[in-house]
Amino acid sequence: MTAAKRSVTGLIGWPVAHSLSPAIHRHWLQHYQIEGSYELFATQAEHLPALLARMRQEGWRGINVTVPHKQAVLPLLNSVDVAAQEIGAVNTITLRDGTLIGSNTDAAGFLRSLLEGLGAEELGYHGQQVVILGAGGAARAIAVALKGAAAQAILLMNRSHEKASALAQALGVKAASWDSRHLENASLLVNATSLGMVHQPPLSLNLDRLPTSAAVIDIVYAPLETELLKQASRRGNVTIDGLGMLLHQAAGSFSLWHGITPVVDASVRRCALNAIAGRSAS
Ligand code: ATR
Repeated sequence: MTAAKRSVTGLIGWPVAHSLSPAIHRHWLQHYQIEGSYELFATQAEHLPALLARMRQEGWRGINVTVPHKQAVLPLLNSVDVAAQEIGAVNTITLRDGTLIGSNTDAAGFLRSLLEGLGAEELGYHGQQVVILGAGGAARAIAVALKGAAAQAILLMNRSHEKASALAQALGVKAASWDSRHLENASLLVNATSLGMVHQPPLSLNLDRLPTSAAVIDIVYAPLETELLKQASRRGNVTIDGLGMLLHQAAGSFSLWHGITPVVDASVRRCALNAIAGRSAS
């Protein structure tokens, strides 16, 4: 069977070795009995054009794009969907009729995970005053998602204040200083920084002023229950871990490539958790 018929998919980035995407996508490929593969392509920036030319030539179905190429691939594509344009970054490339189409499933993946965690169809009260910690790529996708879901007010706080101000200005939202920690009116608190992740410094945040009615969501999924979520859960806030966003953005890519929207259920969650455990042990 040729590569084109086998639905080659995968991930480009640098580095990619520790990605959970192969475990997630292979689980769904098997579950939906799709003859295909999901491979890792560790690719440095200067090799991106050659990798994309190979993708086109060999007829791969699609690839995910991760750090540091999410922006760099933009000029190499034939078209870019609205979400990716708005976020200014691509996490999914699909080959269709010989053309490379860029998409971004991070924003929709975040929103799905959030609404699932809230057990709601829309943001409602939790969209009244959103506080996002961070101003990197993830924070941008999340802010775009929340704006699209009609959040009423969004406040960005980031260690580098200039980045928060620039992002806030670009998106038409507000920024406050990292030290201010304005949580008293928050209805939703999002950690969109890498703080709290294994091998990263903890996120030290005093939640005393956060209303207990607020929901708290973390993009960090290793550990699954971060110190932020532990602290929030102890004081009665609804908490949502970062695994949902990871799984739902993967589901978005899978759906674009294979035309099947995979179910994000306990079995794929378990599969990802096993991959995290294996990764921590390596
Ligand atoms: P991603 O694509 O995952 O968002 P990123 O663009 O590198 O990654 O952004 C990482 C985020 O984590 C940024 O908001 C970063 O803050 P700075 O813009 O000030 O760098 C935040 N971050 C990382 N390490 C941090 C630390 N030690 N303290 C506070 N914020 C940190």
